[in-house]
Amino acid sequence: MPTPAISQDELKAQVGRAALAHVVPGEIVGVGTGSTVNKFIEALAGLRDQIKGAVSSSEASTERLKALGIPVFDSNAVEELAVYIDGADEIDGRGHMVKGGGAALTREKIVAAQSRRFVCIADASKRVAVLGRFPLPVEVIPMAARRVARQFAAQGGTARLRMKGDAPLVTDNGQHILDVTGLEIRDPLAFESEVNQWPGVVTVGVFAHQKAHVCLLATPEGVQTLTF
Ligand code: 5RP
Repeated sequence: MPTPAISQDELKAQVGRAALAHVVPGEIVGVGTGSTVNKFIEALAGLRDQIKGAVSSSEASTERLKALGIPVFDSNAVEELAVYIDGADEIDGRGHMVKGGGAALTREKIVAAQSRRFVCIADASKRVAVLGRFPLPVEVIPMAARRVARQFAAQGGTARLRMKGDAPLVTDNGQHILDVTGLEIRDPLAFESEVNQWPGVVTVGVFAHQKAHVCLLATPEGVQTLTF
């Protein structure tokens, strides 16, 4: 009898549970955003009494953490975190990622920067050779959106303003998101540094300076651990 296929939802649940092994008892854990992280948050509720709490990368994750009785700390109240656990839209063979599919990229980068280790949790569909297949999220100040879109066009990209219904999506920081297609990001470190200099760019969704140290990758054969 053929083994039944594992759903993507179950893969996310598996990798969410596997991430518990990276949580340091007695400490505050950095928590990302997205459907994979939601599985991690569900699993983390079981360790509630063994951690001090969490620093969260979005209003959505904060709400979920609090609903499960996990205290949430302001990032300014915490000097350093031992570990940050978050998903990704793409991850390459060196731990560089594209993130921001859930529009939380700026706060994700802030919490990643204050953490000693970034543990990425993802299913195998997120693994790529070269970043750029997933539309690259870029958080922008609304008055700069057109100009930034033109700068991407000059590099061969097509930027679209992310919408929510009939209006532009507004991030937790009150800004807008451009999703850029048509890019091949062969030098993620240089690309991230360059785009972050463009006036009006709040954060580009390439995480090369704040790359993953470990990736827990859910596959139908089990969770693989990649270290970078
Ligand atoms: C949110 C993110 C997420 O980590 C990324 O979009 C992956 O999400 P999911 O686990 O739902 O596939 O960067 O801004």
